[in-house]
Amino acid sequence: MLEVFMLKIKENYFILETEHTSLVLKNDGGEVVYLYYGEKLNNYCGIELYEDGWKSSILSQCGTGNHREPALGVRFSDGSRKTNLKFHRARIVPFEKIEGLPCSYGAEKSLRLEFIDAPSKLKLYVTYTAYEESDVVSVATSLYNGGKKPVYLESVPSVQLEVRGRDFSFITFDGDWASERRRHEHKIGVGKLVNESIVGSSSHHHNPFTLIERAGEVYAVNLVYSGNHRTVVESNDAGKTRLIAGISPYAFDWELLPGASFFAPEAVVAYAATEEEASLCMRRFVSEHIVRGKWKKKPRPVLVNNWEATYFDFNAEKILSLADVAAEIGAELFVLDDGWFGARDDDFRGLGDWEDHVEKTGGIGILADKIRAKGLKFGIWVEPEMVNEDSDLYRKHPEYAMKIPRREPTRMRNQIMLNLADPQVQGFVYRAIARVIEQCKAQYIKWDYNRTMTDCFDKSSHSGEYYHRYMLGLYNVLEKLTARFPNVLFESCASGGGRFDLGMLCYMPQTWTSDNTDARDRVYIQAGTAAAYPQSTMGAHVSICPNHQTQNSNSLETRFDVACGGVLGYEYDLTKLTDAEKKEISEQISFYKTHRELLQFGTQYMLGNAFEGDMSGFITVSPDKSKAISVVCLPFRRVWYHTVCTKFQGLDEKAVYAVSYRDAVGNLVKLGEASGALLCKGQFRLDTVYDTVDTKRYSNPMYTRLYLFEKVSAKRRKTNE
Ligand code: DGJ
Repeated sequence: MLEVFMLKIKENYFILETEHTSLVLKNDGGEVVYLYYGEKLNNYCGIELYEDGWKSSILSQCGTGNHREPALGVRFSDGSRKTNLKFHRARIVPFEKIEGLPCSYGAEKSLRLEFIDAPSKLKLYVTYTAYEESDVVSVATSLYNGGKKPVYLESVPSVQLEVRGRDFSFITFDGDWASERRRHEHKIGVGKLVNESIVGSSSHHHNPFTLIERAGEVYAVNLVYSGNHRTVVESNDAGKTRLIAGISPYAFDWELLPGASFFAPEAVVAYAATEEEASLCMRRFVSEHIVRGKWKKKPRPVLVNNWEATYFDFNAEKILSLADVAAEIGAELFVLDDGWFGARDDDFRGLGDWEDHVEKTGGIGILADKIRAKGLKFGIWVEPEMVNEDSDLYRKHPEYAMKIPRREPTRMRNQIMLNLADPQVQGFVYRAIARVIEQCKAQYIKWDYNRTMTDCFDKSSHSGEYYHRYMLGLYNVLEKLTARFPNVLFESCASGGGRFDLGMLCYMPQTWTSDNTDARDRVYIQAGTAAAYPQSTMGAHVSICPNHQTQNSNSLETRFDVACGGVLGYEYDLTKLTDAEKKEISEQISFYKTHRELLQFGTQYMLGNAFEGDMSGFITVSPDKSKAISVVCLPFRRVWYHTVCTKFQGLDEKAVYAVSYRDAVGNLVKLGEASGALLCKGQFRLDTVYDTVDTKRYSNPMYTRLYLFEKVSAKRRKTNE
């Protein structure tokens, strides 16, 4: 038996183990099939009894008698589509980065299965890596054309999963701009269910993270990719459920020349008994094996952003007055948003001209130094993948734009895209943004992307390759920029939340979660995001009331309570704050900083149901369980006799905790002491929270309360007794 920690090859069996799961594959006469994926088996005796009449292939092919969605779609130059990729060998190999694409890191070895289609000499490699402590397995699939003629790839799976049973549900996270990642559950019945994005990005509409689940059995899948994606699930009469995830085959047709390879985006898969556990595995995995660099575990600064305070209407004086208050209230980073460059006085012009709008800023280098002199870090907004036709860049280089000859381009937010599939355009974007960073010594970059892709065209590449070539171009730029500026904190933003995916998180440890900052909506947006992504990746800001997106009003306390579930910021005209509000915000920031390690990097559990129901919220527990913070949210006031309760989670059931809550002005009010067991198992009454909001000031608000749990030491407990 060939064996490396976590990976075993025994005759025709291949075993991958993580701390709590086992995945067993078998070479069954040339086809590799799933025998087992589930809770860890420490003994594999009898595994052959789990072989199956109806094989559960790791990759279904066309023309082999498979009557469901085939994972791999290949067209040969004679027009035929049949492949018969047969198992050739298995090897344990050193872990390798995927060429041209972002991927996970931190493993030493992988299991590689190799397949050959004898007539065409097409080779397939499926490489599995087990991430032990996260209970995640990553799968990287690639194809190599060993023949003499080009081969056309119509669909290349990142992963195919096949499980026994056909009573699963398919869970997806869907929405739109300002309403991202609402959880949906679809019963998998007859026919296919599809979760897909074809807008050129991972999208606001359908996140690539999905699950299939039934009681006691959950499989979670995500893709390390930011472009078009598709996940298809399908059950059959033989009692199997199949999931295939990868790049969307929409407008995909890749010419694989002789001697060339194609690398599919990495897929990551987790098995757990419950949806919450699967989600915790995924989040642990993202924190450890996706987010990287200096900011991986480093406390993220509390920022102030001028967007909702000023939109395009600002000058240096206004920015400096905002920065004064930002420093006074204890913020650490000031972010200058859209409007500082070119002739950018509105969203009709200027994109592409990454030069100072000197009349407004007085020079970004000078402005940045003045902001730093106030004790703040300086960050700046860019939207590098776009151009306005009213810009010097477009006038000089119209050929850089993504346009189809002789066709009017589709404009969104008055802008068109740059053709990042073209290496020359990649070079321009890289140099322009590097210059901006150097000019103002930026310590933070907000990388925006405010439209979807429509006019895909590049004269030098095949049209079926465009979407993916764009992504490769983008990743190339990001790879170089992040390597050149390792200290800069990058935050990805695609109109807020339009590219919340593992691909972007490989370069940018944070993502602006949504443009919707309404606390009530943020509860479900953040809970849906937390299904797959840890809170340290989620930008969450307190903004003004009535809220600019929804017109709802909520107390400042509630807005903070919700935002402290992610990386805190304020997006607000701070110069208009009353003294009382300023004090309240200063205390919020000071509280957040005191508990920042816990809030940003602790283990976060969701409470209640953020998508429907009477209550929701979170509890974040420190690794040693000595401290926890919970925010409970009651979306609407119910009649007085209606009791709302919760069980907390993740606490040390053997310990006793001092329980307090934060009142409206930031004082910690002691409630008493309670055992971890009682807090986790008992129903803690929450409807008293209704008393917290001044309903004369805020009509129909949401109700929240922040609780702090601190372990009482055994010694102190004894003294008290
Ligand atoms: C969309 C972003 O999500 C906003 O925060 C802001 O940066 C605007 N773009 C600026 O145009």
